Amino acid sequence: MITQQIPHATTISALRTRVRTWRDDRLSVGFVPTMGALHDGHLSLVRLAKAQCDRVVTSIFVNPKQFAAGEDLDAYPRTLIPDAEKLTDAKCDLIYLPTPEIMYPDGYSANLVLKGPAIGLEAAVRPHFFDGVATVVAKLFNQVRPDMAFFGEKDYQQLLVIRQLVKDLDFPVEILAGETGRDKDGLALSSRNVYLDADQRARAGQLNLILKDFAAALSAGSTVSASQATALAKANEVFDAVDYVEARCATSLAELGDGVIDRRTRVLAAVRLGSTRLIDNMAAKPPS
Ligand code: PAF
Repeated sequence: MITQQIPHATTISALRTRVRTWRDDRLSVGFVPTMGALHDGHLSLVRLAKAQCDRVVTSIFVNPKQFAAGEDLDAYPRTLIPDAEKLTDAKCDLIYLPTPEIMYPDGYSANLVLKGPAIGLEAAVRPHFFDGVATVVAKLFNQVRPDMAFFGEKDYQQLLVIRQLVKDLDFPVEILAGETGRDKDGLALSSRNVYLDADQRARAGQLNLILKDFAAALSAGSTVSASQATALAKANEVFDAVDYVEARCATSLAELGDGVIDRRTRVLAAVRLGSTRLIDNMAAKPPS
């Protein structure tokens, strides 16, 4: 339970009442959806939202629809009290804490099924994932009705999926992206990093270096196939398993040919250390 001093809503009607008072005062509303276990990547999104909007709502909801059987739904870190304190320090105006019963009451039946940027990469390994994310984000948008919503580039495919969702379903919300927060060694901040033991944590920092080299090779004019082969070989040396290391079109995530890149490109990877999956991505500029 969090205290009354920290403004929060646990029902859709309490959320809407608060947001309506802001709207009556002509204040703009920013929204940062999260699953909690907040780190500085989340808080930088809240700070970005505060800079862009008059009021900011952050939701914390561990969405069962985006976990498959056997994934870490039960083990997913739940740290409500420290999360609420961090959000208060970041000047978040309202924390929205719906329960699974509120989001998916008995008889709930609507689930989105996506194509486009939701095909391949993450979806090749987690086929349920983006349909679950889109379903909960669509519900949250309808509940909060924000002017702007903020997503991290760390989950780059998710960001493109949400942009497409907003376009397809005509949500009147602008999507803004926040840069990936990183530890000192460059490891992308993630709530799942707490699962890593000391040896795994030391190796995890290699992922962003492998992607940096991959992006630099592409920008220097190396072909996609040659630079990808080098990145893949390095990833296979460091990690227990590699789900993918790829260069894709930065706007559609379409596959690229074997040749030299000639458009906005993103390099993306997913690897495993034990049972922990790490994902990361970064931009690669076309050769000048
Ligand atoms: O990125 C996340 O934390 C989740 O996928 C999101 C967008 C909050 C939906 O549950």
